[in-house]
Amino acid sequence: MDTVTLAKRRYTTKAYDASRKIPQETIDALLEQLRHSPSSVNSQPWHFIVAQSDEGKARLAKATEAFAYNTSKILNASHVIVFATRTDMTEAHLEAVLAQEGADGRFRDEPGRVMQDQTRRSYVNLHRFDQKDLQHWMEKQTYLALGTALLGAVAHGLDATPIEGFDAKALDAELGLREQGFTSVVLLSLGYRSQEDFNAGLSKSRLPTEDVFTFL
Ligand SMILES: Cc1cc2nc3c(=O)[nH]c(=O)nc-3n(C[C@H](O)[C@H](O)[C@H](O)COP(=O)(O)O)c2cc1C
Repeated sequence: MDTVTLAKRRYTTKAYDASRKIPQETIDALLEQLRHSPSSVNSQPWHFIVAQSDEGKARLAKATEAFAYNTSKILNASHVIVFATRTDMTEAHLEAVLAQEGADGRFRDEPGRVMQDQTRRSYVNLHRFDQKDLQHWMEKQTYLALGTALLGAVAHGLDATPIEGFDAKALDAELGLREQGFTSVVLLSLGYRSQEDFNAGLSKSRLPTEDVFTFL
């Protein structure tokens, strides 16, 4: 299916059929696509927690007490992914990414490896010290991963709901994320819509082309 059709087909699912489970090979493929999301200087400042059991989803749903309209979108979905971002760009992470790039054959020679390391560190230091927005910069990368997953989901015939309406502090505590150097940023419910989903039948709404694009 062409990408425009996919973009128009996907929509934010408001009610799920709790009896339907996503096949394992579909989830595996989606997660593999997610793992390949692009990020600035290949920084990959994220971690994804996948709730696939009723117990796991119930733990996530606790963080929606003040966002009750989102609770059933977590409990009745088949899977829910927590998109978490690093709370710091650590030396250990920078070294791990560089080592992985080396193992994956990214460097033709040692100067190439050194250059990549220096470039990545210069971006990190730009955001840490000059622009003072390191956390914000890392979270932008995580949102790219969300976009990747949203398009991947519809391509696999899945329904999905991006969810910012949750208590990140409560969820971080529930999952012990901050102790592990991460904080939750956004959730993604995945599964199959229920017949009661009012949103499935509504037309999509976007600002017109002339307002959104400028051509030079
Ligand atoms: C980052 C993000 C967070 C969102 N959070 C919620 C949410 O908490 N609950 C919800 O029902 N919809 C949520 N939405 C859905 C948006 O309202 C929806 O994407 C938008 O209205 C466009 O509609 P469409 O996704 O059906 O095309 C979120 C969307 C995005 C991209």
